[in-house]
Amino acid sequence: MEEWLANPKISKFDAGGRLVTPGLIDPHTHPIFAGERCEEFDLKAQGRSYLEIHKAGGGIQSTVNATRAASKDQLVDNGSLQFDRLLRWGITTIEAKSGYALTVDGELRLLKVLQQLDGCHAIDVMPSLLGAHTIPLEHKGDRESYIRQIIEQMIPQAAAEKLAQFCDAYCEDGAFSTDEVARIFDAAKKHGLKLRLHAEQFTDQGGSVLAAKMGATSVDHLEAISAESIRALGESETVAVLLPGAALTCKSAMPPASELFAAGIPVALGTDLNPGSSMTASLPLMMSLACMQMGFSCDQAWQAVTRVAAQSLARPDIGHLGKSAIADLAIFDAPDYRYIPYHYGENHCSAVIKRGRVVFG
Ligand code: NIG
Ligand code: FE
Repeated sequence: MEEWLANPKISKFDAGGRLVTPGLIDPHTHPIFAGERCEEFDLKAQGRSYLEIHKAGGGIQSTVNATRAASKDQLVDNGSLQFDRLLRWGITTIEAKSGYALTVDGELRLLKVLQQLDGCHAIDVMPSLLGAHTIPLEHKGDRESYIRQIIEQMIPQAAAEKLAQFCDAYCEDGAFSTDEVARIFDAAKKHGLKLRLHAEQFTDQGGSVLAAKMGATSVDHLEAISAESIRALGESETVAVLLPGAALTCKSAMPPASELFAAGIPVALGTDLNPGSSMTASLPLMMSLACMQMGFSCDQAWQAVTRVAAQSLARPDIGHLGKSAIADLAIFDAPDYRYIPYHYGENHCSAVIKRGRVVFG
């Protein structure tokens, strides 16, 4: 027996020949919300588009209404439920956004819920301020006053209270323009926040190129990214975070992963867990979709939820196994790493170890 194994401070775990991987990392989630949107799901199923529902005052705004009305305890309870769902699939770290309050106090309240969950739940949280998710109803006639609240109050306060590591925004027709995102990102950088962006989900607005130029850590979605934007993105260090669950729910074409890989862009995968465009906590299902619909190899799908997802969060200490990594592990009842994307929709995760302790299974 190796000497270190005799150390009583070291706990032993017999995985019994099962598949052991780094704990999975979900680099894009919206887990703090109240209410569900089954009705909208059914409308989309019957042919209404996500943007059509959004522009008619449903979509994000309907979750904002429910979230504003919920107590902090209700948000913690629902958030905790979402975290449990994620953990069961082998996920040990998530990026998690605010974005369903859209007032200064409300967004800070959501970030505090995330901070509380980070402290009491096994999953580690990398929090993002997403005040720029959409223009809230009460500011519809005066978007400038809302943008100024984000720049002058939300960003400085979230940064000063260390409630967010990233600033995110939604760059889209019906949400924020590239000029507005540039102003918001300038403020975020000034306050020491790193950047990520919802970009080119339905239309290419040039958001990903702008974000990459501004040094964003990730650009997310990219279902509608143009060949020209892919070329520009390929010259940056920015990671592309692809969200096949949102493409599936919104009946969009899958993001052009093969072209992104060919341009040398690092590609990660996320669930986009949220009540509107992607109601799933299954990162392994995203791996399956990536292999079956987007041209990923099984190896690329694994890299996308471990090493590259960690890169998209600027976390070199997770997403791999070894001395320079913390002991986050997922254990699967599977004889081969390819089983996980191959058996789609099934959960093979039988145990999760977070920072060296068994937290599930
Ligand atoms: O990543 N597209 C913008 N934001 C989310 C959806 C949020 C919602 O519909 O509630 C997304 O798809
Ligand atoms: Fe999202």
